[in-house]
Amino acid sequence: MKAKLKFAAPSTVIADLLVVLAADKNTSKEKTAAAEPTLLPKDAAVLKAVDAILKGGEFKAGCCETLLIHAPQGLQAKRLLIVGLGKAAKASVLEVRKAAGTAVRFAKPRGSREATFVLAEGVWPESQLPPGPCTRAALEGAYVGDFDPDSYRSDRKDQALVSFALIAPGEASANKEEIEEAFRTGVIVGEAQNFTRSLVNEPGNTLTPTELGKRAAAMCKQQGLTCTVESTEKLKELKMGAFWSVSQGSAEPPALIVMTYDPKNPAPDAPVLGLVGKGITFDTGGISIKPADGMEKMKYDMAGGAAMIGAMQAIAQLQPRMKVIGIVCAAENMPGGKAQKPGDVQVAMSGKTIEIINTDAEGRLVLADGLAYARQLGATHLIDAATLTGACVVALGHINAGVFANDEAVYQRFQDALKISGERFWRLPLDDEYRDMIVSQIADIMNTGGRWGGASTAAIFLKEFVGDTPWLHLDIAGTAWVEETKPWIAKGPSGIGVRSILEWVRGFDVAAPATDASVTVAEICRAHCTPTLGIHFLFIWR
Ligand code: BES
Ligand code: MN
Ligand code: ZN
Repeated sequence: MKAKLKFAAPSTVIADLLVVLAADKNTSKEKTAAAEPTLLPKDAAVLKAVDAILKGGEFKAGCCETLLIHAPQGLQAKRLLIVGLGKAAKASVLEVRKAAGTAVRFAKPRGSREATFVLAEGVWPESQLPPGPCTRAALEGAYVGDFDPDSYRSDRKDQALVSFALIAPGEASANKEEIEEAFRTGVIVGEAQNFTRSLVNEPGNTLTPTELGKRAAAMCKQQGLTCTVESTEKLKELKMGAFWSVSQGSAEPPALIVMTYDPKNPAPDAPVLGLVGKGITFDTGGISIKPADGMEKMKYDMAGGAAMIGAMQAIAQLQPRMKVIGIVCAAENMPGGKAQKPGDVQVAMSGKTIEIINTDAEGRLVLADGLAYARQLGATHLIDAATLTGACVVALGHINAGVFANDEAVYQRFQDALKISGERFWRLPLDDEYRDMIVSQIADIMNTGGRWGGASTAAIFLKEFVGDTPWLHLDIAGTAWVEETKPWIAKGPSGIGVRSILEWVRGFDVAAPATDASVTVAEICRAHCTPTLGIHFLFIWR
């Protein structure tokens, strides 16, 4: 899919499928109150073409509700699609993202090869729908909607959309530059998220750890990032006993993928960010084997690693001013004559000894060494993403992903990132007491913590390997796979994490000094100081 940006009046646009947004202006809380669907673009010709239909009551402008009009009067477009945003008072960037995805998914099976999405005058005055974020969200949503996990289906090849055009208000728009910038960002982020989803969709037989390494290396080559992909020998050399123990039972060698983005001009005092992803290309559970029912889904156990690869692609294109190291620990968790057994003791890269209680708790083992390695390579701040625990799915379902943090400032930054990414994460606890649950009698720690609080005991296990480095852990087990098709997204890999990780990274890049000193100081403090230091800094400045 190719994305285009045009500044024009909607009624003058020649299009196969013109898409306009509508919201329900009704503010009454009464369930029986009639909807008041209102078009967002103020284009007189478009308003005239849909007036009777909006008054007729068949379209209520509910979120992602659609209505198609053929040969709309007075327009250049062949067909006009109205997509609802829900209640006008509540409509936000989130709904715009979904609406764009809905429009694309509406077009795909109906023979349209292009969709022309109007984000015109009328959107901007609403404070919750600012031009830049709306533009970006529309692009992201369009890309998300365009993806279908059908690369292995011979009957679906002709459904892809060729182009997605975004129509913004006329050339003279005061927001022109902002819109252009947001458009570019939206394309980069949308492509990165879909790249991640395409990797996650690959079956275990094609996407082995070695193949994941090849795909990451190809991306890095294309984007100008350095990339190394090492295997058994390097794991042994680095004494990655925890990582190796997971891969030892498989005929497929492990892959230690390291992608580095190192800008020529980093900002002064810029941090070095370490992104670590779980890359289990298939998780059978190992000797503690999983039940057959649903095991095929465990090809997506590399979604955390794929999110890091996608994020690195976007980072290479968006060029934040700090070094970023992306590490993916890829392995296949298999039973077999050489597989590790419950009761085995492994020595991690950090020197900590681990008693293996359950070989199915393998993600934390590969991440233990990945996190330690990121620190060794100089990371000052860490984030990991992993389809780590079924317990996280039990706790949060498929709605929210879990987030854990050992540092409040780094967590606050992640909260800020979520406001831009629109992804949903919910913080889960990391109290010291969870540590007691993984104490082993014969080694330093065990790789499981019993039946209860499984997401937290897994997280506290990882915490053992990050030392005092500020760190975030994202448990995406419940959200990396969309369980049922929605109007704006296909069933299958979601690409969760890519947008939030990317925004978390970008948040560390302080804007160039502004003329308004107070803004600059606040930004510098937010980026480089702990909250207390921040206040201190402010005092000196004044
Ligand atoms: N990959 C799984 C976690 C998972 C579960 C991902 C459901 C996606 C959906 C992980 O390796 C695992 O098997 N975890 C075990 C840990 C247990 C043995 C302590 C689990 O959660 O059951
Ligand atoms: Mn497992
Ligand atoms: Zn797993």
